[in-house]
Amino acid sequence: MPQISHLFFKTAVIWLIIGLAIGLQMGISGNHNTIAAHAHLNLLGWVSSAIFGGYYALNPAKASKRLAMVHYAIYTIGLLVMLPALYFMELGNAQLEPLVGIGAMITFAGVLIFAVVLFSREIVSIQEVRRV
Ligand code: HEM
Repeated sequence: MPQISHLFFKTAVIWLIIGLAIGLQMGISGNHNTIAAHAHLNLLGWVSSAIFGGYYALNPAKASKRLAMVHYAIYTIGLLVMLPALYFMELGNAQLEPLVGIGAMITFAGVLIFAVVLFSREIVSIQEVRRV
């Protein structure tokens, strides 16, 4: 499996562990305040990251492109900014809302880069294939 797929899956499972922990915390406490953080950790963090990892595993030519690593970095940085800010915002820290917005925009940029990778031609140089 290409390195980028490993990276996406390893990151995804960390999001899943945190997402499920927040789900359990909500279920046990009966306080569902952090519902958006839970849903976005699981869907943007676990599900989407795993789909990206699966895509690159099925398309090694695309995985070898430098842009794939840029996609991983931007998308993951976006989530690292957005998701903790969303969690603590839902716990009553309303001042974190701009940070949630900034993180969301970075995450969106990551998805746009994925779209560029997806629609780009598959031809890559030998050096790029060797890097996978
Ligand atoms: C240990 C596993 C999980 C537990 C204990 C759990 C627990 C919860 C709880 C307590 C809520 C709040 C329900 C409400 O207030 O209406 C919730 C909502 C939600 N969960 Fe989970 N969850 C788990 C796994 C997942 C997974 C794996 C996903 C997605 C991949 C997910 C996606 C969602 C979504 C989208 C909502 C919002 C639903 C809505 O607004 O109606 N959850 N979860």
